[in-house]
Amino acid sequence: MVDLQSQYQRIKPEIDAAIESVLESTKFIKGPEVDEFAKDLAQYTGVGYVIPCANGTDALQIAMMALNLKRGDEVITATFTYAATAEVIALLGLTPVLVDVNPETFCIDPAAIEAAITPKTKAIVPVHLFGQFADMERIMAIAKKANLYVIEDLAQAIGSIYTFSDGTQKQAGTIGDIGTTSFFPSKNLGCYGDGGALFTNDESIAQNIKMVANHGQRIQYYHEVIGVNSRLDTIQAAILKVKLKYLDEYCKARQYVANYYDKALAGHPNLKIPYRDPKSTHVFHQYTLQLCGIKRDELRKHLAILGIPTMIYYPLPLHFQKAFGAENYKKGQFPISEMLCECVLSLPISTEMEEEQLAFIVSGLKSTLLYLSNIELEDHATNAEKMNQTKHH
Ligand SMILES: Cc1ncc(COP(=O)(O)O)c(C=O)c1O
Repeated sequence: MVDLQSQYQRIKPEIDAAIESVLESTKFIKGPEVDEFAKDLAQYTGVGYVIPCANGTDALQIAMMALNLKRGDEVITATFTYAATAEVIALLGLTPVLVDVNPETFCIDPAAIEAAITPKTKAIVPVHLFGQFADMERIMAIAKKANLYVIEDLAQAIGSIYTFSDGTQKQAGTIGDIGTTSFFPSKNLGCYGDGGALFTNDESIAQNIKMVANHGQRIQYYHEVIGVNSRLDTIQAAILKVKLKYLDEYCKARQYVANYYDKALAGHPNLKIPYRDPKSTHVFHQYTLQLCGIKRDELRKHLAILGIPTMIYYPLPLHFQKAFGAENYKKGQFPISEMLCECVLSLPISTEMEEEQLAFIVSGLKSTLLYLSNIELEDHATNAEKMNQTKHH
């Protein structure tokens, strides 16, 4: 699905030198590269403060702790997302309130957020899924009216830009009270292990984040709250500092792949290509199709034989997961998310794909779809024949 090897080979001398420099310094924790990378990323995104941490899941947890959310507070998020988002809400004793998504963008539906607000609601966590923004203009308006915090989960959308109706443009993670991201290796900006970061424009929130992530201490050995230990290690920061210079190029490379797929697959009777929201650039962390009239597992099996990997992000919405109390939800409660889980299929996408590979994937996909549609037609014909024969007998 992702070719990290080719990406590494292209920038190997720079990466190797950056790692070697950390090895020579032996400042493995809190080396200067951590602050340098945080500053570079703040400058790139235009946000006031970037606080690195150990991974994207920690970033979400630290965000909720830094905002002082308390046991029993309700936090609204989408049921069609990666589990990490809702997991930390539950882990902190807060109540995850799951809602449905927009059928075009796959991101949280603002009308569903409004309908889910209660006096206990304290925050909304929109996830910019697959590389495209949730409807932040409406979400921010809802949050302002109901006095709620907004934590943007931009793990899949770093570098994406949102345009408000007045023309103002903002980077992912810089619109809400806090943005949280992951530098997992396959992410659009990925390190060579685990990593994450929080963004905020608010100085006191930034101080709280730093305190929570550092065992709840502002002054060494004086612990104000129960915190966590969550740090980006120096080697990862040094790698990210190199890779950040290439982020725009990486986004463009992903968009090139997506444009290629779009052009080749638009209008296909069994496929719906990803929607592009005019308000958001799409940085295509995933290129996710919707299938119609085709058995997904059969398709995946045949493509795998051809050597074409595919993935299902995600096969089960959170409200059907045992961990999130599936027994409390009814089938059909969040119909869009349920439908998407049944029909989505993500194709390989990464920064170093060549036209030859893309042509191979597209032709393999199209010929397999044709083959499976013909089998389907033959099955229909055989069944009809059998029914006819039974009638005559
Ligand atoms: C939307 C979303 N949120 C959170 C995370 C968690 O990030 P990490 O794996 O770095 O903990 C991920 C990463 O997989 C993600 O895709």
